[in-house]
Amino acid sequence: MKKTTLTAQYLDLLKKSLLNELYVENEARLLYTFDRMLNKQPLDFNDYFNITRIEPTLIDTLLRNKQTGLITVLQFIDADGRIQKADDLRNITELSHTMIGRDRLENVQFCVEKVLEDEVKGDFIETGIWRGGTCIFMQGLLVAYDATDRTVWAADSFEGVPAPTLPQDEGFDLSPNVLPVLAVSLEEVTKLFQRYGLLGENVKFLKGWFKDTLAVAPIGQLAILRLDGDLYESTMDALVPLYDKVSRGGFVIVDDYGSCPPCKRAIDDFRSQRGIADELHEIDIQSVYWRKS
Ligand SMILES: C[S@@+](CC[C@H](N)C(=O)[O-])C[C@H]1O[C@@H](n2cnc3c(N)ncnc32)[C@H](O)[C@@H]1O
Repeated sequence: MKKTTLTAQYLDLLKKSLLNELYVENEARLLYTFDRMLNKQPLDFNDYFNITRIEPTLIDTLLRNKQTGLITVLQFIDADGRIQKADDLRNITELSHTMIGRDRLENVQFCVEKVLEDEVKGDFIETGIWRGGTCIFMQGLLVAYDATDRTVWAADSFEGVPAPTLPQDEGFDLSPNVLPVLAVSLEEVTKLFQRYGLLGENVKFLKGWFKDTLAVAPIGQLAILRLDGDLYESTMDALVPLYDKVSRGGFVIVDDYGSCPPCKRAIDDFRSQRGIADELHEIDIQSVYWRKS
């Protein structure tokens, strides 16, 4: 694996682009516009164009949240003078191509570089890809290190998170009725890969519910298994058929361990059922990984 300055610069630019850091001012302009609208204030075009001067704190907050993967939520004062959260703004202002944030992208980079350096055999998979940004980054890393003999498997329903059916997921509904922003079509994701110039023949999409696709997919060995399906059911439906395919020295990354209690429960149950004692490393407040011994 050859690490040059140019490779490092390409990978950094790729991260900036996937996180929409390069055009963060436009995200701030949208938030500013909706803030004015919700608070029934006129939109001042000079302020809009001079957003960096008008809203420096907002831009700092956006960049900070892009580091950690936190959502920027707007507040507005309703007719009764109460402060309300404008939750559904996520559908309008979530403009990045991955929602995992920079810290977790750095973790993906660390894991990919480690398995390439240590020659740990196997493909990479993410179960739960949304717009595909993390898989685009995995493919960017493989291209940058001339290692496209590995497949990047991108598994998703491409219609959002299923409604909860298990008792462990009770009350945790992220289905399209609640969060339509999580439903992104395969066509849209494919176009994004193309836009980045990263739709190689080694990129394979697994469309459908994990319980139907993962056990029968022609996956051999895995070097990286990245779980991002939010629910207990989605985490288990991925872990059960795939965990034994992870090579020794490979990585299991759990995006939702700290943010989705059902996912944490699935991981804790699976590790205890299988007697897995490999240390859990914290990536950020939301996510963990372990290396298979
Ligand atoms: C939080 S998003 C993933 C974010 C993504 N990893 C990124 O980089 O931004 C969760 C994704 O998991 C998918 N998903 C959740 N449960 C699923 C299941 N059981 N089968 C198929 N897809 C599922 C949803 O469609 C959604 O795209």
